[in-house]
Amino acid sequence: MTQHIDISRQGAVQIIRVNRPEKKNAFTRAMYDAMWKGLAAGEEDEAIRCHLFLGVPGAFSTGNDMQDFLAYATSGGDMPELIGFLECLASLRKPVVSAVDGLAIGIGTTIHLHCDLTLATPRSLFRTPFVDLGLVPEAASSLLVPAVTGHQKAFALLAMGNDFTAADALAAGLIYKIVSEEAIEEEALKLAEKAAARAPEALQISRRLLKRQPEDVIARIHEEAKLFSERLRSKEAQAAFMAFMSRKKS
Ligand code: COA
Repeated sequence: MTQHIDISRQGAVQIIRVNRPEKKNAFTRAMYDAMWKGLAAGEEDEAIRCHLFLGVPGAFSTGNDMQDFLAYATSGGDMPELIGFLECLASLRKPVVSAVDGLAIGIGTTIHLHCDLTLATPRSLFRTPFVDLGLVPEAASSLLVPAVTGHQKAFALLAMGNDFTAADALAAGLIYKIVSEEAIEEEALKLAEKAAARAPEALQISRRLLKRQPEDVIARIHEEAKLFSERLRSKEAQAAFMAFMSRKKS
C-alpha cells in the first residue's frame, strides 16, 4: 500500500484522495494499484453508494510519473496497474464525483471522463500533452472526449495538447460546475452525499443508460494501450521523458 492514496469513508461516500503534493500528485504504479483496489472494494461494499476523487490544493494530478514512464519505456514492460485501474474505473456501477483544484494533466484530466459530476476551481488547468511526449491518448479519451465536445475541441485537447481552463472545460462539457477554492471540497462532498442518498438501484441503472457500454470503453482502453506502449518505446517519447527529467528549473 502507498501513503500517496488516502482512502476514507464519510457516511455512504468513499473518498479517494490523491496525496503526493511534493510531486504535484503524479501517479505511480503503486498509486494506480491502490485506487484500483479501493474502487473495487467500494463497489463490493453495500454501505458505499458513491465514490469521490479529491486531490490536494493546487493539483489534482500532473499525470503519470515521468520516472515510471521512462522505466516502462526502457524495460519494455507493460502497465498492469494502470490498465487494471482504468478497466475498473470504466466498469463502475456506483456514481463518481470528482473535484479538481489546479493542475489536471494527462490522466489527471482523462480520469474525469469516467466521472459523473466533476467540480473545478477557477484556477484549474486541464492539459493532455500526449503528442508533445511522443504518445497517444489514453483512458478511452479518444472515444469519450469527441463524444462530449465534438471533433474540433477534442483535437485541440488531445492532439494539440492545448490548455483548457476551467471555463473552457465547462464550455466544452468536460466538467459540471466551477466552484471557489474555499468551497470545492465541501461542495463535492455534498454532491456525493446527494448521489448516495438516491435510490441506489435506480441510480445505477440510470447511470448505465446514460454512459457508453463498459465493453466499448474497455475495448478502446486496450486499443489505445497497445499503441501507447509502442509509443512509449519510441525515440520521440524517450527523448521527451529525458528532457523532463534533466530540465533545469528557473
Ligand atoms: N512525474 C514525475 N514528477 C513530476 C511530475 C510527473 N508527471 N509532475 C511534476 N513532478 C515533480 C517535479 O519533477 C518536481 O519534483 P522535484 O521538486 O523533485 O524536482 C515537483 O513535482 C514539482 O513540479 P515542478 O515541475 O517543479 O512544478 P512546476 O509548477 O514548475 O510545473 C508542471 C508544473 C505540471 C508544468 C510540470 O511539473 C510538468 O510539466 N510536469 C509533467 C506533466 C506531464 O507531462 N505529465 C504526463 C502527462 S501524459
